[in-house]
Amino acid sequence: MLVQSNFLVSQPKAIATRCIACSASGAATGRFRCASCGDLLEVVTQRPAQAATLPALWRERRRSDTALDRSGVWRFREALPGLVAAASVVTLEEGNTPLYALPRLAAKLGLESLLAKHQGMNPTGSFKDTGMTVAVSRAREEGCCWVACASTGNTSASMAAYAARAGLGALVLVPEGQIAWGKLAQALDYGALTFQIHADFDGCVRVLDEIVGRAPVYLVNSVNPLRLEGQKTAALELWEQLQGDLPDHLLVPGGNLANGSALGKGLLELQDWGLASRLPKISVVQAAGADPLARAWRSDGAPTMAPLAPESLATAIRIGKPASWKKAAAVIAATRGTCLAVSEAEIALAKAEIGAEGLGCEPASAATLAGLKRLRAQGFVKQGERVALVLTGHLLKDADYALRFHLGTLPLGDFAAQERPPEVDGALAARRRAPISLAADADAVLRRLEQESAHA
Ligand code: F0G
Repeated sequence: MLVQSNFLVSQPKAIATRCIACSASGAATGRFRCASCGDLLEVVTQRPAQAATLPALWRERRRSDTALDRSGVWRFREALPGLVAAASVVTLEEGNTPLYALPRLAAKLGLESLLAKHQGMNPTGSFKDTGMTVAVSRAREEGCCWVACASTGNTSASMAAYAARAGLGALVLVPEGQIAWGKLAQALDYGALTFQIHADFDGCVRVLDEIVGRAPVYLVNSVNPLRLEGQKTAALELWEQLQGDLPDHLLVPGGNLANGSALGKGLLELQDWGLASRLPKISVVQAAGADPLARAWRSDGAPTMAPLAPESLATAIRIGKPASWKKAAAVIAATRGTCLAVSEAEIALAKAEIGAEGLGCEPASAATLAGLKRLRAQGFVKQGERVALVLTGHLLKDADYALRFHLGTLPLGDFAAQERPPEVDGALAARRRAPISLAADADAVLRRLEQESAHA
């Protein structure tokens, strides 16, 4: 029997939170906003007793057969203090995702190593599962009947799956025509009540906020600080997979700007507990058409942020008014990282390059590699440094984007005015692999194979 710590509680406990702006403490409720100033809340985590024994305990749990230990979130439960009782946990064995090496790209970029933490290998194909197991477990424990989110697709897919497992209703608001089909198909298949709203993501958030004030639904958008507690475990896993020898840089795509801050919270806590000595610089990469934090970062180091009307083919991060921008800015500053934007053409190229390594990811995730190339060119990432990218979603989430890229029909021309390195357009053309239509004739196939191998 493995040590269960203080996690087994008999009654739901109030979750201790603190406002990120005025530091007021209190219990999380409703909209997850500070009762005094209206800003976001974060979960207050205490340094666990005997922190030095945790690495061995967390690792040991991977050999256990219990559902709780097999989850890559709940095996770190000492870092998630008393959020839910063990009996309430809703898990799909999320987390425990692979950390892949990309040696060819590392050599090309002059890095000692380049790693990809592939969060798209979670049960519903995105990092959202690591947060959703915590939020939906809590919703069940509080006796809620419905969970709800506004989403660019992945949050809704994940929420719908966990709600179905828990026997809860799932209310989804997505921007009509602006999310990838794979994600919409997931929400429908998992039985969510799905509304396609005539607005962008930010408009869906506004409508949902009103619904939360008027109906007894439990909000699982990333303003819910419990989500971030689950998401931070990916950073703990990275630290564990590297035996504590963290990279120099960690790059994360930014949309609503919660995930980068969650990973940062995890790493800063490890440092606080004496388990990590040197942290990576955490940098957030946005799409150039949906880059409110990157703009603020350039002009004033982000004490303020102006919302904008977002545009991007990377629909997951097509967000103009990110809720968690202050949390992200704080983590970037604390780790001496940066925030930058990359063009659609760079995202498309980076995605094809990750695909060509046999990993694949969705467009938003590829923004990390595109951002790395820029930071390397600027010298922010130096020769011989070690870098990890967080790939947030699976290639098949947005198969349509991949197909259109290779068929040459992705509307990159709509973004032709975006600034990008001169070599990108030529490199893009060289990456296309359109399917070849041929007669049912082995000779014809072999002739074509010969031609292709002569060019290889
Ligand atoms: N990558 C993917 C694949 C995403 O789905 C998202 C966000 C992000 C990156 C950005 O993370 O918002 O924490 O900065 N997707 C949300 C959704 C908004 O509704 O699925 P973030």
